[in-house]
Amino acid sequence: MLYHVSKLSSTLSARVGGILQRFLFVLPAPLSMMLFGQAGSSGYDQPFRPQFHFSPREHWTNDPNGLVFFDGEYHLFYQYNPFGDTWGHMSWGHAVSRDLIHWEELPVALAEEHGVMIFTGSVVVDKANSSGFCLGGKPCLVAVWTGFTAKTATKPDLQTQNIAYSNDHGRTWTKYRANPVLNLNLTDFRDPKVFWSAQAKHWVMAVSLPNDHKILIYGSADLKQWKRLSEFGPAGATGGQWECPELFEVPVDHKGETRWVLKVGLNPGAVGGGSGEQYFIGHFDGERFQNENPAAATLWTDYGKDCYCALTFNNLPKTEAPLMLGWMSNWQYADKVPTSPWRGQMTLPRKLSLRMTTDGIRLFQQPVDNLAALRGMRIPLSEQMRGTGHQFQFSSTVSMGTAGEVGWKVLAKGDILTSIGYDKQRRVLFVDRTHSGNVGFSKDFPVRTAAPLKLNGNSLQLSVVLDRDSVEVFADDGRVTITNLVFAPADADSLEFYASGGKAALVSGSLWKLRSRWASGH
Ligand code: FRU
Repeated sequence: MLYHVSKLSSTLSARVGGILQRFLFVLPAPLSMMLFGQAGSSGYDQPFRPQFHFSPREHWTNDPNGLVFFDGEYHLFYQYNPFGDTWGHMSWGHAVSRDLIHWEELPVALAEEHGVMIFTGSVVVDKANSSGFCLGGKPCLVAVWTGFTAKTATKPDLQTQNIAYSNDHGRTWTKYRANPVLNLNLTDFRDPKVFWSAQAKHWVMAVSLPNDHKILIYGSADLKQWKRLSEFGPAGATGGQWECPELFEVPVDHKGETRWVLKVGLNPGAVGGGSGEQYFIGHFDGERFQNENPAAATLWTDYGKDCYCALTFNNLPKTEAPLMLGWMSNWQYADKVPTSPWRGQMTLPRKLSLRMTTDGIRLFQQPVDNLAALRGMRIPLSEQMRGTGHQFQFSSTVSMGTAGEVGWKVLAKGDILTSIGYDKQRRVLFVDRTHSGNVGFSKDFPVRTAAPLKLNGNSLQLSVVLDRDSVEVFADDGRVTITNLVFAPADADSLEFYASGGKAALVSGSLWKLRSRWASGH
């Protein structure tokens, strides 16, 4: 996003609004239960509240930050405004989980201080105490983030890279006294992703020069002194600012090979309009990323409107596939979505793989395995189903036959529906939310998002996850994903198969209702 004056002057009103809002929404439990009709006392049962995606209990969130696995816990830090439900006072919120489904929100980890906001960044496990911050011969956590200082009459906005450390599993943090560790005196220089390069035996940072469409690569032995090693870009899509770079290694299907993926956020100018992300595939030797595709080739991580600034977890066990999750919103309307007392949520964690396709090597994504633990009984899919509720998962194989278009109407009732379909002539998979319910809060919301997809034979294979206010579509085993928010009325809960322009057949399919992660016993 662009940090101009209007964004910052909104900061003050956000604080005032925040105080008011606390007054309004932190109600004694029985009263809030009456208002929201809650079954439990979780405080997470308001209309549109996701039941197994992470969302903060109250207030605003955007990008995930500092995803790291450490001592059996997955940590999710996130851009957070502790004072209100619009962007401002950026700090790092914090949640932990042991299974990537049940998240427990903890106190703010890194707070705005002395006029410096805490922008996006990452966390590493310093196993050998290279930073000198770790106590008692044990590994510690080190956070690397962008500090944002707003302009004054004499100085422009400033973005620098900073560090902090924690010796108690991320519960408390100390900011390094000699911050910043990297200062180029730039207004736009942000979102450091740091990881350990086993090959080069040093820390690597990928950090963005948003307006130049460049990712800079730095190396360090101690996380304090950084040396510039190389740069990448411009390449691919450059219609907006480059943000949130992420560089990680992924195995390529059966071959025992790996490739490096450089993922870059683009805002605006993404494929679905507004914010979205592209990726490059290539090689990384610890110093330089080399794109193996032509510079102009653009690959999108997701074709929906609501998956931005995704990060992968650092320090996962070597045997585990990389796991990524993103912010499920879009800067076009993030501050207008009709949810309260929170705004912003994360996508499902997704398992990543690279597979050889007829178009070359591509990124595949699948919902994290543990989601299956929330499943109820398997229900065979039929062409018309009612009472599906708003929390379920289904997979289907459809034979296109002679039809020109096939698909599913979900969260449907009368004229209200979200369609997930395939257009044979255009060869695109689409999710259309123009009639999905509450769409009027932004002109950029009611849209049809589409992804190019070649069918395997004449058959369409889909896996779809719905969680009250979101639809995540994984087509062709995760080769194409479309992630979109939707705000349907509670009684819009039919699922209907449709075909037009000819005859198609539902070959097979299963549906599972998904329990709330707040349900007792889970
Ligand atoms: C992306 C972004 C980042 C920045 C953060 C601020 O959504 O604009 O570039 O660090 O949000 O909240």
